[in-house]
Amino acid sequence: MVQLDPQRLPVHLAVIMDGNGRWAQQRMLKRIVGHQRGAETVKMVVEQASLLGIKYLTLFAFSSENWSRPILEVRALMTLLKKYIRQETARMLRKNIRYNVIGNRSDLPPDVNDTLDEAIRKTASNDGMVLTLALSYGGRQELCRAAAHLAKDAISGKVSVAAITPDLFDSYLDTGGLPDPDFLIRTSGEMRISNFLLWQLAYTELYFTDTNWPDFTINELHKALADFQSRERRFGKTSDQILQRGGLSND
Ligand code: IPE
Ligand code: IPE
Ligand code: MG
Repeated sequence: MVQLDPQRLPVHLAVIMDGNGRWAQQRMLKRIVGHQRGAETVKMVVEQASLLGIKYLTLFAFSSENWSRPILEVRALMTLLKKYIRQETARMLRKNIRYNVIGNRSDLPPDVNDTLDEAIRKTASNDGMVLTLALSYGGRQELCRAAAHLAKDAISGKVSVAAITPDLFDSYLDTGGLPDPDFLIRTSGEMRISNFLLWQLAYTELYFTDTNWPDFTINELHKALADFQSRERRFGKTSDQILQRGGLSND
């Protein structure tokens, strides 16, 4: 077993859950079977993250670009998502987990939105882990939505142009109120961001593993977190500054 320092876990863990289709195809199974098995991995990671005391977990479940997949796969994914949320809400309540969604919800089918609304409402007063699902989510689309909203507020005089800072802009994003991810895991061997959290990942530590999402295990999760704990986050400073002054000094 990997040793983890409970004091040095990421506050916010983000995951690009990739490789469901390849997992299935390698076994001569339909891609949707890979997504079904992937949903089991989601349960495990949600449970582990909450047990470890991670405060924010964000999962990339469906991208803006994933709408271009074959219609049958898209439909199957929406059905699976609905089933997952319905089945898991009771467990989320027991584990004090709060649901949150980022992305362009107006593109989602009405029945999926109803299911999400119900889950969000039921878990709204939970103050344990915040589980954010990125659905119909694209980083560039989110940035454009934020810019459009901010432009509207500037034109109406609610915000002055001089007041536009990174903090203010951040508050216009879907993730407003969430801290930036400390750690990002992507499975399946692809080393790219695929339009996920483009603004928020500015200083995130990145971790890539060849394992396909349905095969991702508790041990692999712990191994990834141990890797995170071995890293020195400098945020532009020198290593000496971080080691000598705990990273708090501006000297
Ligand atoms: C991730 O697995 C799930 C979604 C993107 C919805 P993929 O479906 O992308 O699996 P691969 O990359 O084709 O193997
Ligand atoms: C990213 O995976 C999106 C999700 C995991 C939901 P993709 O499989 O869509 O990414 P690309 O197309 O390989 O970059
Ligand atoms: Mg993929």
